[in-house]
Amino acid sequence: MHRRTFLHLAGTSALSTLAAPALLGCATSAPTWTNDPFALGVAAGDPAPDGFVLWTRLISANGLPKGNIEIAYEIATDETMREIVRRGTAVAEAAYAHSVHLEIHGLTPGRPYWYRFMSGTASSRVGKAATLPAPGARVDNLRFAFVSCANYEIGYFSAYRHLADEQPDLVLFLGDYIYEYIERRRPTVRLHSDEKEATTLAGYRNRYAQYRQDPDLQRLHATVPMLVSWDDHEVDNDYTSEWSSTFADPVKFAARRAAAYQAFYEHMPLRPSRYDARSHAIRLNDRFAYGDLLEIALTDPRQYRSRLACPTQPDRGRGHLETLASCPELVDPTRSFFGLAQERWLMDGLARTTARWNVIAQSTLMSQWRQRDQNNEISFWTEDWNGYAPSRTRLLQHIHNARVANPVVIGGDVHSFWANDLKLDFDNPKSPTVATELVGTSITSVGPNYETFTKYLPDNPHVRYFESRRRGYTSVDLTRNRMTTRFRNVSDVHKPDATIATLKTFVVEDGKTGVVPA
Ligand SMILES: [Fe+2]
Repeated sequence: MHRRTFLHLAGTSALSTLAAPALLGCATSAPTWTNDPFALGVAAGDPAPDGFVLWTRLISANGLPKGNIEIAYEIATDETMREIVRRGTAVAEAAYAHSVHLEIHGLTPGRPYWYRFMSGTASSRVGKAATLPAPGARVDNLRFAFVSCANYEIGYFSAYRHLADEQPDLVLFLGDYIYEYIERRRPTVRLHSDEKEATTLAGYRNRYAQYRQDPDLQRLHATVPMLVSWDDHEVDNDYTSEWSSTFADPVKFAARRAAAYQAFYEHMPLRPSRYDARSHAIRLNDRFAYGDLLEIALTDPRQYRSRLACPTQPDRGRGHLETLASCPELVDPTRSFFGLAQERWLMDGLARTTARWNVIAQSTLMSQWRQRDQNNEISFWTEDWNGYAPSRTRLLQHIHNARVANPVVIGGDVHSFWANDLKLDFDNPKSPTVATELVGTSITSVGPNYETFTKYLPDNPHVRYFESRRRGYTSVDLTRNRMTTRFRNVSDVHKPDATIATLKTFVVEDGKTGVVPA
């Protein structure tokens, strides 16, 4: 069992009650550092045509000085940091674990930049960021990747390392960036440092700090700009909105969720305006346009979701199988996967988009997936879109009616690769295919039983490919005429030096919904 040397952090456990995460004055500058204050690395994200957000978080083995700390930054147009175009100071906010969320404006659209932070004699590694192309500008190609489900304990992050080597323009993190729990049913390769479930602000901060010391993840963040949403394990397994899957005391669960949300904000390159310090809500859903080529609708699958169907007792509060007869709630149209307001927001954007390709980025499997229960009855998993079928029908009907150009849904969560045709009516195989779905496997988390799931394939003719035995990521090369998707898998998640290979390649042609094997 290998245990990485780990810096324990002096974090306060009380939630901040500041009005807003503003860049405050009265900051101390240039403390004397006895260790690398940038040991958690750097990250760039939340891109706009004229800028982005740059992130770091200061740490010290001996504790940080009280109060905010002012640090310096530089932005250059070259990797060697010779052509500096911006210099200034940023504030590491004490109330937010000395994290920095530096919002940059006024840069040139559609190009990469490089940046670093400095404090005293310490300097961070150089990170790469990128502005979005100018709205509507012609863009001929883009490489993006998506990842999900990185359980630190049950595997190494080789997939992140190999993805960094590919140098995509963008990586989307679709959830389960951390795992809050301790899972001792699986063989572990390394342990969460505190060896207990995260439930407090200190606990969640500790998780992010440990994950961010992983060299593969740290390199991915330094070399590829990101978009980020979340799933359940950033907070608590299978929670939705204000409901814990274990029926925990709602007041206690609200405090836990607030702590988890704050720690998430503290560790991601997100605009300060996305975070409401009073309610601890974070607005993650947003649209990102890559010129005329691609619009990404990034969604939030957890914060506003209706409660799981038929949570009859605490041990059934988690995802579980139900038949339509046992759980009529599965087809209750008042329930919504995104929450009704976000559902409307998504549909409004899809009605207006003029991009050639339109990606809906969400956390999980959207396709219908008929399973069989112990009685061999057709049944549905309550915790993915199968627990929210009317909500899925509304979205797919809208995509069909609005004639959205080249709609592609991407997801994660289910620890397996899938290529699916999203049908207007899943119960009728002749029904039109409305959108293409590509689901990426986990970075490390164990997938569903392959033999069991492949037995269900004849009940699900719209599922064109399924593979749950591999760990990795998904890489997409987009041109005006074609979307080429590579399912990439690592050789062995239990080995830190695992190699990478392409398992399968699928193509979507412009104007033709649905996947074709390459
Ligand atoms: Fe997961």
